[in-house]
Amino acid sequence: MNLILLGPPGSGKGTQAKLLSQHFQLNHISSGELLRQEVAQNTPKGKLIAQIMNQGELVPFDTVLDLILKQINTSPNGFILDGTPRDLSQAEHMDWFFNQNHIHLDTVIYYQLDDPIALNRLANRAREENRSDDTPQTHRERLRIYHQKTQPVIDYYQKQHKLVTIDARPDIDTIFTNTLKLLPSK
Ligand code: AP5
Repeated sequence: MNLILLGPPGSGKGTQAKLLSQHFQLNHISSGELLRQEVAQNTPKGKLIAQIMNQGELVPFDTVLDLILKQINTSPNGFILDGTPRDLSQAEHMDWFFNQNHIHLDTVIYYQLDDPIALNRLANRAREENRSDDTPQTHRERLRIYHQKTQPVIDYYQKQHKLVTIDARPDIDTIFTNTLKLLPSK
């Protein structure tokens, strides 16, 4: 099974992707996490990526694509793509890649959450973890970019009849149970 997870920053995509990957034995591919690993290597490329991420902007897609394609190509049981696509051109490119490689995208799960709750969760995470893009300014900018660029991707998959929408307001376990109800059982 191959899944894409969409939703605003703080909606819990990463949290649900971890649970789903364990449940279905799928490769969890988080573009944000792959980029953070590049940053941790402190190479000139990593430093450039860090500057962009710390402003809450999108990293050039060719950089992201290199990282995620390596992962997709080594996902024998299927994958969960978390954090990509981020705009329509990324969505179109992923479709093209899936077609070329005879990869079937089963479902796109959209975790729907209003900005105030998302901002609150991100603020909590900023206190608990040490993500350099977890600052109030970056949170607002990431949400602005999400509404401007990523939200059209939701309509794009809706038109393809691939989209399922999950209310991301309840607790983590309830959201996970509700997600499983919309997916084929193991
Ligand atoms: P990325 O790492 O993908 O961040 P994001 O999409 O902004 O999402 P987050 O990780 O902030 O939130 P999430 O929805 O995963 O929520 P989480 O589970 O952590 O991207 C980071 C950056 O990388 C981007 O800004 C961009 O620069 C770059 N990038 C990535 N992909 C790119 C691409 N394709 N193209 C270009 N650039 C790209 O949960 C958040 C918090 O809430 C956690 O503390 C969690 O414990 C808690 N929580 C989760 N669920 C619940 C719940 N139900 N109730 C209460 N708390 C909850």
